[in-house]
Amino acid sequence: MTKERCIPSHVAIIMDGNGRWAQQRNQLRTIGHRAGLKAVRKIVMYAASINIKVLTLYAFSSENWKRPEKEVSALLALFIYALNREIKKLNSHNVRLNIIGDISRFNNELQNMIIKAQQLTKDNSGLVLNIAANYGGRWDILQSAKKMATQVVEGKISVDDITEDHFNSAMSMSEFPDVDLVIRTGGEYRISNFLLWQIAYSEFYFTDVLWPDFTQSLFDEAINKFNNRERRFGGVRNEDHTC
Ligand code: IPE
Ligand code: IPE
Ligand code: MG
Repeated sequence: MTKERCIPSHVAIIMDGNGRWAQQRNQLRTIGHRAGLKAVRKIVMYAASINIKVLTLYAFSSENWKRPEKEVSALLALFIYALNREIKKLNSHNVRLNIIGDISRFNNELQNMIIKAQQLTKDNSGLVLNIAANYGGRWDILQSAKKMATQVVEGKISVDDITEDHFNSAMSMSEFPDVDLVIRTGGEYRISNFLLWQIAYSEFYFTDVLWPDFTQSLFDEAINKFNNRERRFGGVRNEDHTC
């Protein structure tokens, strides 16, 4: 009997390569971002259909503000457009949308849209879609550390109460399982300040394919590769291990 394929509970994707995709076509980088949005739509629906529980997409890093102002505003405009256009569909597919990152740097319009979209979908029981926007892995650890420090200063906890579990409780996505599989498109082998704390025991899958060209079958290939990995979590080989 063939073993049933294991679907990772939590998949995180660094969607890289939009700019190069456009440049290869002698088009503006922003055209690449638009093409990237199409790939997002397909991959989100596919993830929901194969019962992935949590999908976390890196949309805008805390370092992406370094890009030319025109590109930054085009990216933010695209984010607003996508939220407006997709939220009803996501809701009707029982998807719960959650934004992670420091949204206080966004303008009021975008902040309000984010709050509304999260509110609308908060009770949905299907796929959880985390969009990392103005997110940085170091920012995430730092904001948790600040909360811990505040709790100590206010006398609510002692220093010894800062266990891994307690520290984790103030991290983004603490209510979800740690990331099982990280996928990076676009040919770079780095993490670019995406999730740090949450990927302690993740498996990694890198592909040269540029994000706008990423397809369901490539997603499947990543999951198949994940199935061939032996996760030991610091222990020894476990024959009974199921995912
Ligand atoms: C990733 O594509 C999307 C964002 C960072 C928003 P890039 O824009 O980084 O594309 P490349 O890496 O320049 O090709
Ligand atoms: C990572 O891609 C950020 C996102 C995909 C949102 P970058 O293109 O910003 O990463 P670097 O600069 O190549 O490390
Ligand atoms: Mg890039």
